[in-house]
Amino acid sequence: MVETSDEWIRTRTGMRERRIAAPGQGASDLAVAAARGALRAAELDADKLELIIVATFTPDRPLPATACYVQRKLGATNAAGFDLSIACTGFINALMTADSLVAGGMFRNALVIGTEVMSSVTDYQDRDSCVLFGDAAGAAVVGADASEGQILDHVVKIDGQGTEMISIPSGGSAAPLTADRLEARENFLRLSGRQVFKFAVNAIGDVVGEILLRNGYTIADVDLFVPHQANLRIIEAAATRLGIDMDRVIVNIDRYGNTSAASVPLALDEAASTGRLKRGDLVCLVAFGAGLSWGATLLRW
Ligand SMILES: CC(C)(COP(=O)(O)OP(=O)(O)OC[C@H]1O[C@@H](n2cnc3c(N)ncnc32)[C@H](O)[C@@H]1OP(=O)(O)O)[C@@H](O)C(=O)NCCC(=O)NCCS
Repeated sequence: MVETSDEWIRTRTGMRERRIAAPGQGASDLAVAAARGALRAAELDADKLELIIVATFTPDRPLPATACYVQRKLGATNAAGFDLSIACTGFINALMTADSLVAGGMFRNALVIGTEVMSSVTDYQDRDSCVLFGDAAGAAVVGADASEGQILDHVVKIDGQGTEMISIPSGGSAAPLTADRLEARENFLRLSGRQVFKFAVNAIGDVVGEILLRNGYTIADVDLFVPHQANLRIIEAAATRLGIDMDRVIVNIDRYGNTSAASVPLALDEAASTGRLKRGDLVCLVAFGAGLSWGATLLRW
C-alpha cells in the first residue's frame, strides 16, 4: 500500500503483527468480547452491573454512545453508562472515574472498557501513520471489595497546546465532513511521530515519578509496569531513563501494534493471564496520547 518494509516497521516500532476488525465490526463488538471476559473473571452477572464506561475515540457511531450498544449486547439491564474520549489515555481516565464513583458509593461496581477500531480512522495511504495501529478491546471490573486488590491512586494530565500533534482534522462540529474534506482525507488520523515520541518519553517519566513520590514508593517497589504500547523504543527509552529493567515491563506491541485506549487493559490482561501478576503485586499503569494527554494509575493486584 505504501513505500515501507517489514524491516523498517520492526526496527522502528517493535511491531510484527496487528489485528484488524472485520468490515462492519464496531468498537462495541470488540468491547463486548472483552467485557464478557472481565465479567467472568470478576464472577459478576451482567444484570448486576451498575455502570459501564467505554473509553474510545472510534465509537460505533457519533450518536448514540457506544456504552448503550455495549449495555444492550451484554444484557446489562440495570447499568448506567457513558463514553469517555481522551484517546490513548482513555482507559486510565475511565478507571479513575469508575474508581472515584465506586469509592464514593454512587455505584457498587463498574465495567471499564478501552476499545478501538483504529483501522476505521487509519489512512492506508499515509506511511507515517498507517503502519502503527491495530484494533482491540480490553476491560476490567472495578468493585468495592478491597480484599480483591486495590486501586491506590491516579495522576492524569492534559496539555491543549498539543492539539495539532495527533488529530483527526475533520468530522467534528468545528469542521463537519464535506466532499472536499473527504477528498483531502481529513477524516483520518494525522500525527507528528517524532514530536510525539519525545513528548511520550518525558510524559511517562513525569507521571510515573509523581504517582510514586506522592504514595511513598520508589521505582524499585513496583513489581510490574504496564505502559501504553505505542512504540517499543518509547517504552525502552522511558524505562532506561527511569532505571527500570525491562523484565518488569509488559510489552505486547509486537502482536497488536498501537491500539490506543485498548492498549493498557490488553497488556494488563495478558500480564494477568500469563501469570506475570501475583496477588499483592504493586502495578503501575501508564499511558499518553492525543490531546496531548498522559496519566498513570497505581494499584495493588
Ligand atoms: C512514527 C515513528 C515510528 C517514526 O519513527 P522515527 O524514528 O521517529 O522516524 P522519523 O519520523 O524520524 O523518520 C525516519 C525516516 O523514516 C521514514 N519513514 C516514516 N515512516 C516510514 C515507514 N512506514 N516506512 C519507511 N520509512 C518511513 C521517514 O520519512 C524518515 O525518512 P527521512 O529520514 O528520509 O526523512 C515514531 O516517531 C513514533 O512511534 N512516534 C509516536 C507514534 C505516535 O504518535 N503514536 C500515536 C500516539 S500514542
